[in-house]
Amino acid sequence: MSLNTSIEYRDEQLYVDDISADDIATHMGTPTYVYSLKRVLDNYRRIQDAFATVKPHVHYSAKANANIQILKTLLSVGAGIDCVSAGEIFKALKGGAKGEQIVFAGVGKTPDEIKFALENGVGWFNVENIAELDYINRIAKSLGRREVNIALRLNPEVTANTHPNIATGHGAAKFGLTEKAILHVLDNMSDWANLAFTGIHVHVGSQLHDTNATQKGVQTARDIADRYESITTLNIGGGMPTDYGTANVPSVDAFAETVMPLVEGYDIILEPGRSIIGDAGILITEVLYIKQQAGETFYIVDGSMTELIRPMLYDATHQIVPVKQGKTETHSAQVVGPVCETTDVLGRNVALPQLQIGDRLAILTVGAYGAVMASNYNARPLPAEIVIAPEGNSWHIARKRQSYENLLRDELE
Ligand code: LLP
Repeated sequence: MSLNTSIEYRDEQLYVDDISADDIATHMGTPTYVYSLKRVLDNYRRIQDAFATVKPHVHYSAKANANIQILKTLLSVGAGIDCVSAGEIFKALKGGAKGEQIVFAGVGKTPDEIKFALENGVGWFNVENIAELDYINRIAKSLGRREVNIALRLNPEVTANTHPNIATGHGAAKFGLTEKAILHVLDNMSDWANLAFTGIHVHVGSQLHDTNATQKGVQTARDIADRYESITTLNIGGGMPTDYGTANVPSVDAFAETVMPLVEGYDIILEPGRSIIGDAGILITEVLYIKQQAGETFYIVDGSMTELIRPMLYDATHQIVPVKQGKTETHSAQVVGPVCETTDVLGRNVALPQLQIGDRLAILTVGAYGAVMASNYNARPLPAEIVIAPEGNSWHIARKRQSYENLLRDELE
């Protein structure tokens, strides 16, 4: 089961550090996300330690969970932030990031976003289109910015061992530039007078089940970098997995051991998201109804695909456990949400004890790509988010449950 040192049972009650999940649900209602900041920091330090020899610059990938409390926590211990939109840059700056601590990635940056990033002095642009270089150069010139750091994103044409919807490094994916295109740019780098071509970026996919694609991608990036004196940085992206308790995944140390010999002599940037926040979060939900139908037990809960879309979007399996243990005998059930979609299923064949209406369940390992991917479909308010302080014994609200009024905030009546 994907419990860990911060998310565990004590006396048959699920705790996040020293706080009982049931108490939080009683105070806050459900569905509610809860994050352990202690676990976030432990995961961050584990990555720092594993890669210590190459003194990595760790830029937390905000797309995994951009709650400002998470950003602030990581910024407070010296992390940078990897952003993929002006919105994420805005949030990172609000969280206290300096421009130079931000890398700006993304396959479709708009000219307005580029301008915003340049005005705020972001440290790096990870570039994936030739025309994007023209935009950045032109806007930099108009703002009097010189030597803007560029890392060209390589598409290494390798297929990562992960769900096809989250693999990014194969030729057919929209991401990155081919080796040929990168060499062409670098051979003509003086065409973009305000840019400094100082890095190569590579990211082959997320939740990687082995290190092979990373090894190939980083090796190709290194081979390119070796040919140009100006390139001093290798950004090797994110992708390190979290343990969902369903398959064996390589450790952070395994990635470090694979990558470090390949990058000697270079400055290293990492962009981990899931491996920092994934197993630090749970989603608490409550049983609304119980139905026996077609030989199956359905637990209809107040959480749904609008809070957690990963099961329906990627066939992802998140373990689901009772907030209060008790009966040990389990049976197989479907845990489904109230949304009007057949695929609004949070878990199939979930082994659960016989539950009653009002019992609470915790969906595990949802810190990454959970709340950030939530939607207002069916006019469902966004869920509350709670953080447990790094000391483990106090909690506060990181996002209020959205009100009905706020559902209408940006609509014109
Ligand atoms: N860097 C780049 C360039 C990326 O594209 C990504 C993720 C990351 C870093 C962070 O990757 P991580 O360390 O979190 O694996 N919504 C999907 C995952 C999409 C990942 C997109 N890119 C999911 O729920 O599985």
